[in-house]
Formats: sequence, structure tokens, C-alpha cells
Amino acid sequence: MQDFHPPFIVGNWKMHGSVSSAIALAGAIRRYGEQAPGNATVVVCPSFPHLVPVRDALGGKVALGAQDCHEKPEGAHTGDVSAQMLKDIGARFVILGHSERRTHHGETSGQARAKAKAALAAGLIPIICVGETLQEREAGRAKEVVEHQVTASVPEEEKPMILAYEPVWAIGSGLTPSGSDIAAMHACIQKTAPDGTPILYGGSVKAANAAEILEISGVAGVLVGGASLKPEEFCGIIAATTLMKAL
Ligand code: PGA
Repeated sequence: MQDFHPPFIVGNWKMHGSVSSAIALAGAIRRYGEQAPGNATVVVCPSFPHLVPVRDALGGKVALGAQDCHEKPEGAHTGDVSAQMLKDIGARFVILGHSERRTHHGETSGQARAKAKAALAAGLIPIICVGETLQEREAGRAKEVVEHQVTASVPEEEKPMILAYEPVWAIGSGLTPSGSDIAAMHACIQKTAPDGTPILYGGSVKAANAAEILEISGVAGVLVGGASLKPEEFCGIIAATTLMKAL
């Protein structure tokens, strides 16, 4: 992981914004990062067309990530983007296996693993997402489902990578699991994942609950959707890391 360390604050901008709004958001995060105390690794993941302008607006202190990559290094894959293309334009991270890709594109854990291998081969750090649906949680199957996703999504080579526990029902809903549920799931993921893999929590993280979530045992940072689009919210989440005990 060399250049990067917990706590990780990762913004997933999804399919939002224009070039100018993305540049403005990146500029606000950069200005905050230049003045703010603290030692978090801050990463923003804009959509593909916004990666280069956002990279230029971020300066060096905030890292760039993408939201997906293809599992093959190159080839006839219309509409896809390779991990090396992302590396070439300065990305350091890539989100893989997000529940929106699993749900809307039928992406499997096997595909997430193949993409993670491609990302590692290109020198990117994959952020592999796992998480149960509400139905699975209510059926008492949350741990079993997540454990299976981790086993099937994480490549065997112990290269630097990050996992993100994102319960599907918590994404964009304003709901979050209890602190003890997050701690229990992170402990379960830790047992299944390679030693020392940082595990982020994601799902309705905002400035108001970030400090509380970042304090939970086993939480090495947060993956933030909606709140990462609002500079005051995202910077408030970065600020919350200064309140954390040493991990
Ligand atoms: P949210 O999304 O913060 O809007 O719940 C998180 C994510 O999808 O990564």
C-alpha cells in the first residue's frame, strides 16, 4: 500500500455532475485538504469523462480513483475501459463489485475478482465492495452472504487491496446498521480476507455520523456516495478522521 494508509475517505461520485461541477467539487476538496489537519487518505472517484479534469483540479494531495474497469488488459470491448488506461491517466484506485454494478449489470463476484486481478496487474488498488440485501439480512443470512462474496471476489494473491462493506439496504437510504452490527460484520470479513486488508464501511455515511462510524472497531475508513457530492459534507467527513483513536 506504500503511499496510502488508513483512515481512507473515498468519495464515489457515481454518474453525477458536469465537467464544471466536478472541477468545482474537486477544487473545494483540494482547498480543504491543503488547510486541514489530519492524516487521512482521501480518494475521489468521478465518472470516466471527468477523471482527467478532476485529476488536474485535485493537485497531488487527494488521490484519484475510478468506479469500474474491464477484466481484460485490452481488446474488442466496446464501451469498456481497461485498468491500464486508468493507471495511465493517474488513477491509483478503482471501485469494483459495487452493488449497483452487481444489481444493474448482473456483475458476479467472479467478475469482480477478475477485474481486481486486472487492476492489481496494472498497479491500481482495487476497492472491492460486498454487502447483503435487506431480504438476506432479514433471513439471518447476512454473514453467510458477505463471507461468500469476500471469498469469491478477492483474488488469491495478497497484493494491496481494500474491501468495503456496503449493506445494499443502507446505500442511499439514510439507514445505517448499528455500530455492533458493523463491528461484527467487519470482524467476519477480516477473518475471510487476507491479513491486514483495510475494510471500509459504506452506506449513508455523512458528516453527522462519520465520527461515530470511524470509531467502530475494524473500520479503516468510509466509502461515501451521496454526501461526497456536497463539499461541506465530504470535508466534514474528512474532518471526522481527526477525532479517531489510532487504528
Ligand atoms: P451512499 O452510497 O453514501 O449514498 O449511501 C454509498 C455507495 O454507494 O458507495
